[in-house]
Amino acid sequence: MQITIFTLFPHWFDGPLGESVIDRARQKGILSLKSVNFRDYATDKHNSVDGPPYGGGGGMVLRPEPICAALDEHAGKRGDADRAHVIYLSPKGRRFDQRMAIELAQRPRLALVCGHYEALDQRVIDSRVDEEVSLGDFVMTGGEIAAMAIVDAVARMIPGTLGNDSSALTDSFMNGLLEGPHFTRPEVFEGAAIPPVLTSGNHAAVATWREEQSLAITRERRPELYDGLALEPETIRRLARRARPFAVFRRRNDALEVLFASAAIRRLPDWQERLLSQRSKAGLPGTGWRWVEFTDLQSGDEIADRRILAREAEASARQESSPRPFWLYLRESLRAQGINPTLDCAE
Ligand SMILES: C[S@@+](CC[C@H](N)C(=O)[O-])C[C@H]1O[C@@H](n2cnc3c(N)ncnc32)[C@H](O)[C@@H]1O
Repeated sequence: MQITIFTLFPHWFDGPLGESVIDRARQKGILSLKSVNFRDYATDKHNSVDGPPYGGGGGMVLRPEPICAALDEHAGKRGDADRAHVIYLSPKGRRFDQRMAIELAQRPRLALVCGHYEALDQRVIDSRVDEEVSLGDFVMTGGEIAAMAIVDAVARMIPGTLGNDSSALTDSFMNGLLEGPHFTRPEVFEGAAIPPVLTSGNHAAVATWREEQSLAITRERRPELYDGLALEPETIRRLARRARPFAVFRRRNDALEVLFASAAIRRLPDWQERLLSQRSKAGLPGTGWRWVEFTDLQSGDEIADRRILAREAEASARQESSPRPFWLYLRESLRAQGINPTLDCAE
């Protein structure tokens, strides 16, 4: 893969991208990195690359001619078969994430344009840029640090860059989850012992422990990722079998109903009244249904809402020309996962 960085500060890249894993990828010929100083393409006698903004206001704007000339020469022109995919680093762009790193790693050529000062003349973006990419909701002085972060994350996703490609598969975000904790020698450090399962020699138990840790840390720190998880049916089945108390509620015409409650809840005396009074206190916004997990049913603390089965049920409903009531699809979905709804709610 070839990445060309367009910048006013080409030497900034020498250090960070000339060490460790990225340097090894360059040595192996997996990654070719080049930086182009677009000041070299300035056309006036002062080598100027910026100018004051039309319409007034503070800051300077990068002029279009030097960057466009540099891009045409090093990234290719529109219509060229081997033209690079041109990215302008900008706080207004699509937020960079692991999925984008994987996507970009499939491309043979990338061009990263680093802005500086107040802005880049909009005509460069309109005529030469394929997409704008942001590192996050904050503003940096220039696009260089964003470009370095992107090169690093993309390069790791090119097969052969990492010593062991499969090690990246369990990294955070690769399967939509955060990764759980790791431990190495010594077994006891400052009185803290490692979790015993890790020395049990039972690979299946270790894998289950890791999966549970990963789900737990994601649920705690990134509930929005956890809610959007598309878990494998087998994982859902395993989660449902555990003793975790969860229930599915629905609000209809201001009345609250329990559609389904896990075995951990159904074992409690008066579980229906208990659940309904909990939810009446906490409220259930809007209409529709909610999957609620409880850390402790006595206190009513919720873990999270789950919408996994709803998505399946919605997908089934969409496939039918005259859809039946949504609840029926949800019940089918629950049954298909090996969960038997205890309450049938006739519409
Ligand atoms: C000072 S910033 C300009 C910010 C611009 N006036 C705005 O408000 O959107 C200068 C350059 O830094 C880069 N930059 C700043 N923040 C960035 C971010 N979050 N992601 C990617 N690039 C960023 C862009 O290339 C930008 O042109």
